[in-house]
This record gives sequence, structure tokens and C-alpha cells, in this order.
Amino acid sequence: MPKVTVHRKAHFNAAHRLYNNEWTDARNSEIFGKCANPNYHGHNYDLIVSVTGEIDEKTGFVMDMKILKKLIRTEIEDCFDHKNLNEEVEEFKTLNPTAENISVIIWNKLRTKIDSKLDLKITLYETARNFVTYSGL
Ligand code: NI
Repeated sequence: MPKVTVHRKAHFNAAHRLYNNEWTDARNSEIFGKCANPNYHGHNYDLIVSVTGEIDEKTGFVMDMKILKKLIRTEIEDCFDHKNLNEEVEEFKTLNPTAENISVIIWNKLRTKIDSKLDLKITLYETARNFVTYSGL
């Protein structure tokens, strides 16, 4: 059967601060810019979850989108939406919540819940123009 990729869009708002506590405030500002603000700030994150696999002969689906929608809600949106990522999300207590790291955490969380026959790719927009992709490589 042909391999097809299905995509599901999702969204969450979250606050973060990017910093390295081994650096001075000046160095953190230089590297992370406005994202180093000690008082945190928010982003409107747009997420695209892409699942690739063969079309199932019985359903005609690669994956049931109702299940994917629910997984994204319970595993990602419920955990990240309207949260301070540094303070409230366990994974980022010791990991800088950059778009890169957030995409890896999202991939790891979803990978365990999606059939291993299917390939998974995460696209995460931190702004309309800055986005990252991660496929587990
Ligand atoms: Ni930021």
C-alpha cells in the first residue's frame, strides 16, 4: 500500500525563560535575547504532528485522527497550555525550554503512544517565522 503522511495541527500558549545559570545576566541576554527575561514571557506555539505509514486496507486510514487528536490533547495540550514551562513542566526543570527541546519532549511523549509501524515527525512554531522539526533522529 502507498505510504501517506497525515497531519494534525494543535496549539498551546506557554511562558518560558531561556537561560544558562552558569552565565551572567549579560551573557544570557546576549545569547537568548528577549527570551532571557527573568520575569518570563509567553509564546503562542503552533504544533503540527505528522504521522506517516501505509494506508490500512480495512479503514483507509494511516491513523485514526480522532485518536491522534485525543493523544495531542492529553499528552501535550493538557500538560503545556497556559503553563510556565520552566516552573510547571517536569521535563524543563533542568532543560532549557527552547523550541528545539520542546519538540524533542513532544516527540518522546507521543512516540510511546503511537504504533511503532508509523513514523512520527513534530513541527513546532515558536513564532510565525521561527519553527523547528524533529523526527527522532
Ligand atoms: Ni521566548
